Amino acid sequence: MNSKALFDLTASRYMQHANPGIATLTRFMGLETVEHRAKGCYVYGPEGEAYLDCLGGPGVFTIGHRHPAVVEAMHNQLELMALGSHILLDPVMAEAAEKVAALCPGDIQYVFFCNSGAEAVEGALKAARMHTGRPDFVCAQGGFHGKTFGALSASGRDVYKTPFEPLLAGFTHVPFGDESALVQAVTDTTAAVLLEPIQCENGIIIPPAGYLQTAREICDRNGALLILDEIQTGLGRTGRMWACDEEEVTPDIITLGKALGGGMMPVGAFAARPAVWDIFEENPYVHTSTFGGNPLACRAVVSALEVIVDEDIATLCARRGEHLLAGMQQVAAEFSHVIAQVRGKGLLVGVEFPDSDIANLVIAGLIQEKILTAFTLNQPKVVRLEPPAVITEAEIDRVVQVFAQAATGAAELLQL
Ligand SMILES: Cc1ncc(COP(=O)(O)O)c(C=O)c1O
Repeated sequence: MNSKALFDLTASRYMQHANPGIATLTRFMGLETVEHRAKGCYVYGPEGEAYLDCLGGPGVFTIGHRHPAVVEAMHNQLELMALGSHILLDPVMAEAAEKVAALCPGDIQYVFFCNSGAEAVEGALKAARMHTGRPDFVCAQGGFHGKTFGALSASGRDVYKTPFEPLLAGFTHVPFGDESALVQAVTDTTAAVLLEPIQCENGIIIPPAGYLQTAREICDRNGALLILDEIQTGLGRTGRMWACDEEEVTPDIITLGKALGGGMMPVGAFAARPAVWDIFEENPYVHTSTFGGNPLACRAVVSALEVIVDEDIATLCARRGEHLLAGMQQVAAEFSHVIAQVRGKGLLVGVEFPDSDIANLVIAGLIQEKILTAFTLNQPKVVRLEPPAVITEAEIDRVVQVFAQAATGAAELLQL
């Protein structure tokens, strides 16, 4: 079957059995092929059509698609066992936990593996309530932590929340980056403050310098925990191993996901300082997951973390990110009537347009030229660029050039 025929069949199956809205949107974007395989920075269609992946999951493929070391490690693990017995101890999970702990900031030592970012956030929230015995959480407006009930209660954007209300009680949302709002909101009933070090799905919002340190101090003063959600920012993406390294802040709990599974397995985790792990003392089964921490996923974690360290992926993200940001800032200067702002850190770059219509036209223009990207979930007027660290400078130059072309097309169409 050729690419177009497979696209039509797949789109009709989406229409009939999966998600009609996504099928319609894909047609609107002008796509006429499906994904078939992937390698490095590229996703390929069935006939070998190559798409440069500047969305990356989002943020999942920091070491690229199907890194050979991770593929080999997983093949080897498949010959042994994929899922655990849950009775015998699992040496692969233990090794993965040790490796995560070694990379985590400060004295973070204990790790619980799960299957997604939202689950990691759920675990972190539960741990904070149980450890502190307090009911409340303080989060940031516009934040994104996932779409399960707890994670959604902590997140922003009504369009994703309102249909599911009532959400969990006890969540207060303050403006991101506003220290005095945090001071007001955190009290002696606050179990934890939950923040992203950089708000990713809210349009790549970088808080003022010192914000995380202040959040740390406010938590300490009030006996509340600080949870940092590094699911998207972590593991090198922003040019450092953790975005919170920039302010040398150690959270009590950190949440991980996305790149943790090496772009090969769905893995999330929450990790904490030793004191917080008293939650498992009385009952080691107080928080469990059938598939979380399985040997196949954990083998991918071990291998991915080795790649991240050995190939110095954080430095690569920093270098390539500088090149991308500089290029996009030039485009923004040239198209100041179309682009409101370009911002970012490492390979986490957001391009803000005056509204989401222009952003969608630019995304469609990029897709026409076989460059994949998307808007940020809580701020659809921002187009994000999150390619793998293995992207070359020449590929970045092409992205910048095509972006300018797409912006020209959008401006002409909308007569801006
Ligand atoms: C910061 C952050 N936290 C949590 C999540 C939720 O992760 P998942 O989609 O794996 O549940 C995301 C996903 O985009 C995220 O960016």
